[in-house]
Amino acid sequence: MAKADEKSVARRRLRALADEIAAHNRAYYEHDAPTVTDAEYDALYRELEDLERRFPELVEPSSPTQRPGSAPATRFAPARHDRPMLSLANVFDRASLEEFAARVAKDLRGAEVRWAVEPKLDGLALNLLYEDGRLMRAATRGDGTTGEDVTANARTIASIPRQLAPGGAPVPARIEVRGEVVILKKDFVQLNREREEQGEPVFANPRNAAAGSLRQLDAKVTAARPLVFYAHSHGAVEGRGFASHSAFLEAARSWGFLPSPDSCVVPDLEAVEAYHARLEAEREQLQVDLDGVVVKVDSSAQQELLGEVARSPRWAVAFKFRPRQAVTRVRDITASVGRLGALTPVAELEPVALGGVTVSRASLHNMDEIERKDIRIGDFVTIERAGDVIPYVVGPLLERRSGDEQQFRMPLECPACGSAVVRLEGEAAWRCTDRQCPAQFKESLRHFASKGAMDIDGLGDRVVSQLVDQGLVRSFADLYRLEPGVLAKLERTPEKAAQEGEEDEDAGRALDAQEAADAGIRAEDRGDADEHGAPRTTPTAAPSRGRGGARKAIALGAKNAAKIVAAIAASRSPRLERLVYALGIRHVGETAAGVLARRFESLEELADADVATLGDLAGIGPIMAASIAAFFADPSNRRMIEELREAGVEPTRPLQADGGPLAGKTLLVTGTLSVPRSRAKDLIREAGGTVASSLSANVDYLVVGADPGSKLDKAVALAVPVIDEDALWTMLGRKGGAPGGDQGA
Ligand code: IVH
Repeated sequence: MAKADEKSVARRRLRALADEIAAHNRAYYEHDAPTVTDAEYDALYRELEDLERRFPELVEPSSPTQRPGSAPATRFAPARHDRPMLSLANVFDRASLEEFAARVAKDLRGAEVRWAVEPKLDGLALNLLYEDGRLMRAATRGDGTTGEDVTANARTIASIPRQLAPGGAPVPARIEVRGEVVILKKDFVQLNREREEQGEPVFANPRNAAAGSLRQLDAKVTAARPLVFYAHSHGAVEGRGFASHSAFLEAARSWGFLPSPDSCVVPDLEAVEAYHARLEAEREQLQVDLDGVVVKVDSSAQQELLGEVARSPRWAVAFKFRPRQAVTRVRDITASVGRLGALTPVAELEPVALGGVTVSRASLHNMDEIERKDIRIGDFVTIERAGDVIPYVVGPLLERRSGDEQQFRMPLECPACGSAVVRLEGEAAWRCTDRQCPAQFKESLRHFASKGAMDIDGLGDRVVSQLVDQGLVRSFADLYRLEPGVLAKLERTPEKAAQEGEEDEDAGRALDAQEAADAGIRAEDRGDADEHGAPRTTPTAAPSRGRGGARKAIALGAKNAAKIVAAIAASRSPRLERLVYALGIRHVGETAAGVLARRFESLEELADADVATLGDLAGIGPIMAASIAAFFADPSNRRMIEELREAGVEPTRPLQADGGPLAGKTLLVTGTLSVPRSRAKDLIREAGGTVASSLSANVDYLVVGADPGSKLDKAVALAVPVIDEDALWTMLGRKGGAPGGDQGA
């Protein structure tokens, strides 16, 4: 075959392989439902790698081989549980609960039973094996008998002790501690937001997000995800026992676990039902996703007597909550523009009540999702709220189709600025190409002001929209020049004012003080111009009024304006990592921003770092490194940073410890050490020292490793004391050398 032909065949095959592997990855990692055997998967992956080796010029950035966290080359090793992991039988109402209790009473010949009740956490079950208190292995449930060995990943979760704390309950010689790995709702919302913005597939709910995050072959990816482990039961135990389930939870707590939250022991079914009713009513407010309550016989002796049947214990049952779904109609599908220009299709719904809020919008995430679910304008659809928070469309009710439904097409022009919309090679997302697009800038500004970033209270969606639309803010720095008088004249949200029962101008309450139920919902009162495709919900409890009714606009008022100005002023000295995160560099989330802030002295030093230096940092992959370098190579971004500085924004360094052994000392590190230089610099900063970026007479010590280069000569010329690595460790009080990169939990 001619070379050109061969190449075009290869290109087609590469694309097909990449698509197929991506689909298998989604099935496996996001839906926890493998579609091929491991051997088939490995064969596809190897074929892709071979082709890419032969045609390196055809490798696309979106190829599974280029995205370490989401596409493993192999899968996890099997791990057999000491004792099988059972599942729970479900009951849905009081009558079935009574039947369960009656069976228990009969089998125990009428003995008194105390019930341990706790939430049924909707996460991923994990089995942790400890020998003499040391974590030896972590395995997923799998088929109940054999799971997947995810030990390396589990070790990155802070709430999983690597060593059971001594001094509490006696530690058994061997024990399987079982529990649930979850992602809190607010973290789920944040994670999906970032994924959507990057054009990556979003997780359907917190459970899938937890499963997808834990089952990563690259433990670094897991480490960057906010996973939490709650202990709720145990498997095999050697060397000691527990009198009751509640005693086990107490022991687990003393060893350093988070036991099932909100667990208690109650005397009768009335109390069980009251507990169930309370949690069902409160589930919106809880940060963990629950789908019911687990009711367990507390006494271990009674559990033993009851035994198990068909892989479920006879001493426990899951008392489920009512599923929350609603049916409504898709009035329209619109495209909203995100911070980095990505266009997200959003279903505009007939408002419908669901779990205490009115839902009128739901993100459809991307075109693939719309096609996969076949959602059309005019469809009746079932909606749910992922993790009780984010409304999402489960799918259309095909039997209710009239034939008049319309397919959605991504607009060719940006709905906000009219510029061309393109889909870049290898990217799932469609993007607006205009960097000046006001919709993008509004999202950037919201991100800049958000909690993990500059944390400017009061800059809600509505205020931001007006500031941009009225040309009052054209750059981040403009915020710092805002006058209270100008802000006071902006409109506040009528709904908000009415909810607060305050219609007069100087209401004196900070705007947006309460994010909807603190659960990450961007409620309607945070603005009409929610370009991010965020769910639009309003509490159903709020006084109802017609949509878009003509209400008089209410001015923000002097007090609110003053508060916002004060909040803006207070953000002038953010910690460096917050400012780095606030800049909105593509792929740089809060964790990566923390890594960068610990490594670099200042924004300028970070801006000057080259791709190689950035890529060497733990937690910064090649794609992120390239994105950071590209961001700072852009003169308009440099200008933006300069303007922020001129506006008085001066970040502070986080790691400088005041009274450390190197307090007040400035050190410069050169040459190759036994640990990465970045690690040595972190240790210096943790000890209160300052790390210089170049040699001057102000440097107290030059630390030299192997091959120090010209700095050594210069140090001698400047009479700067030169020390070696061992001397540094001695100064740091670490005689045995530097600790490894081990970040213990
Ligand atoms: S006790 C079989 N307690 O639910 C009894 N399980 O269907 C041992 N789960 O995958 C489990 N919350 O991981 C227990 N508070 C809780 C739970 C809980 C969630 C999960 C468990 C298992 C499934 C059982």
